[in-house]
Amino acid sequence: MTALRPLIWFTLLILPGLPGAVSCALTAVQQTEQPSGWTILHAERSSAGDLEIGGELAGLPLGTVRYIRYEDLLAMPQEAYSVTDDENFKGKTEISGVSLTALAKLFGQATHSDLIVAICYDKYRSNYSRDYLAAHHPLLVLKINGQMRDKWPASEYDTSMGPYLISHPTFKPLFSVLSHKDEPQVPFGVTRLEFRSEAVVFGTISPAGKWDEQSPVWQGYRIAREDCFRCHSLDGEGGERASRSWLVLAAWAATDSTRFQQYIRNPVAIQPCAKMPAHSTYDVETLEAITAYFKTFAWSRTSQSTLAQRDSSQIQKAQK
Ligand code: HEC
Repeated sequence: MTALRPLIWFTLLILPGLPGAVSCALTAVQQTEQPSGWTILHAERSSAGDLEIGGELAGLPLGTVRYIRYEDLLAMPQEAYSVTDDENFKGKTEISGVSLTALAKLFGQATHSDLIVAICYDKYRSNYSRDYLAAHHPLLVLKINGQMRDKWPASEYDTSMGPYLISHPTFKPLFSVLSHKDEPQVPFGVTRLEFRSEAVVFGTISPAGKWDEQSPVWQGYRIAREDCFRCHSLDGEGGERASRSWLVLAAWAATDSTRFQQYIRNPVAIQPCAKMPAHSTYDVETLEAITAYFKTFAWSRTSQSTLAQRDSSQIQKAQK
């Protein structure tokens, strides 16, 4: 079996320093050692614990999916930190793993993949923009307190934190928009990383037309992009944990803004079994900005877009 392994292993050879799209070449060469800048991608999954990667992969057609084994990730250069401010851990915790930036350099397209999307087993997503990566240095965690993942503690919901989770050395908010602060993106249960382009992914939910950065619509967009987009989706982009699309939220914003805003601030007051986290720190101005932003989808896009037709049954339900 081992003799066959090199045949099915694809090795991505990175030539550092060369600009543009031709800096990467895909070759099928035998793995002899682990020189820096090499890594090994598999066309087939070997176990449920493999990391799936997709999106715009260097040297591969759009939409190609590859798998990386936990052992191979452990063989890459590791970074280690003591963490005290991650809500997934109790008390001071030692973490080690591979930085998302290092993974993006190896696998993303040098020219335009500037966004990493982490997708979790419960359809939650975290988006790591270029600014976020530079400011917070997120790490794909492979060991917790020196332990391999079969010994990891359970999540706060008593579910597995594996196969992968993402954490930071420390987290200091980079920006705030009204009463929304830059939030740590610390998903657990990460199964897939996508190397994407901000223009495409964020473009899906950017408000139509030109808006000043200080306008409520644009401020609402910034907040929704950081927060709501992790669980609510539009046109295949964004998390699907909520099973309520952007257009359903837009319909609520446009037809019953009081209920919409109450839901954001305190979901259980509207629906006792609500799973959505409360946003109790959002003030009136913040809630108005989010409402103004979502309304732009109800009026400008639902009238002509095919997205609206696809989601119209959901909207009708929401309007009842
Ligand atoms: C961590 C995941 C998560 C985030 C983040 C999130 N939501 Fe939700 N949301 C949900 C889930 C799950 C539901 C489905 C009902 C429930 O369990 O609360 C939901 C339902 C809703 C509803 C009710 C829809 C209906 O049909 O009754 C509204 C309105 C809503 N979300 C708005 C927002 C807005 C606006 C944001 C961003 C400020 C946001 N949500 C962020 C998970 C999330």
